[in-house]
Amino acid sequence: MDVYYFSGTGNSLAVARDIAEKTSGKLIAISSVMNKDKIKTEAEIIGVVFPVHGIFRVPSIVERFVGKLDDVNSKYIFVVTTYGSMAGGVIKSFRKVVESCGGKLSAGFAVHMPMNNITIPFMYSGTVGDKEQKLFADCRGKVNFICEYVSARNEGKFEATNKLLISLFYPIDKIFARWRIESKYNKLTNSNLNKDDLWPLMDVSFHFDEKCDGCGVCSRVCPVKNIKMVDNAPSWQHHCERCFACLQWCPKVAIEFDKDSIGRKRYHHPGVELSDMMMQN
Ligand SMILES: Cc1cc2nc3c(=O)[nH]c(=O)nc-3n(C[C@H](O)[C@H](O)[C@H](O)COP(=O)(O)O)c2cc1C
Ligand code: SF4
Ligand code: SF4
Repeated sequence: MDVYYFSGTGNSLAVARDIAEKTSGKLIAISSVMNKDKIKTEAEIIGVVFPVHGIFRVPSIVERFVGKLDDVNSKYIFVVTTYGSMAGGVIKSFRKVVESCGGKLSAGFAVHMPMNNITIPFMYSGTVGDKEQKLFADCRGKVNFICEYVSARNEGKFEATNKLLISLFYPIDKIFARWRIESKYNKLTNSNLNKDDLWPLMDVSFHFDEKCDGCGVCSRVCPVKNIKMVDNAPSWQHHCERCFACLQWCPKVAIEFDKDSIGRKRYHHPGVELSDMMMQN
């Protein structure tokens, strides 16, 4: 079994690593294979683990990764999304991506983890306390279930947030996107794009302060090489995945996202080290 992952603060990496260990599978960072034209593997089972970045949105790097998978129609494919508040219909969206590439998604699971989006005021805490430890404990149980399910090549389980909740939340999400994100970033980038197309350009909101000592960690931890070091300082290149790895892992807490992150604690999964994150590069 191959277990591919994309992760900003280690939640998805921890889940993928657990699945790989328990199934004697191979753990592979999606970003480490993206330079290939075609991703070929002997493995018959392929797992893909990534964070929810929007309730119907498959991260661009994950979408491009699926497009590169060779012989996709002969594989048993499952997906695990980690989420901080509402997984939404991301598994359904991922299923469509797999199908559009000629494959079939056999199962999809959603694992609740701490919220890592530092810009969300009430859902983000940045701390690892009792609530987060409970999520990690539940996650361990869920991973055991996932491993049994996919090792037996079972099919048909696709987890999603309750449809009623999604239909209530979806219009609010759309209005918020138009009002806050599209108006703001179209102005900042002098564009006329929708939220999805603006996504890679939203790194215009990142900036660093005088605490930066030019160590380059932000550049090395970025899974899509979106940060160039220029004169010992980070420069964002506008093909960002908004995974927040640069901001969350900066050892000097020198990176902010507009004013949204100022004064907030930084988060990463407690079982994941910076060196683990760097394996994505
Ligand atoms: C830009 C961004 C958008 C996010 N959107 C959602 C969301 O719509 N729903 C949700 O439940 N969590 C959302 N999250 C939280 C992450 O999905 C969650 O914390 C995940 O476990 C992070 O995994 P990682 O550490 O592997 O990156 C978002 C996080 C980021 C950075
Ligand atoms: S990780 Fe932080 S301190 Fe290091 S170069 Fe980047 S912004 Fe500066
Ligand atoms: S620039 Fe920062 S937020 Fe954007 S993809 Fe790289 S690490 Fe993630």
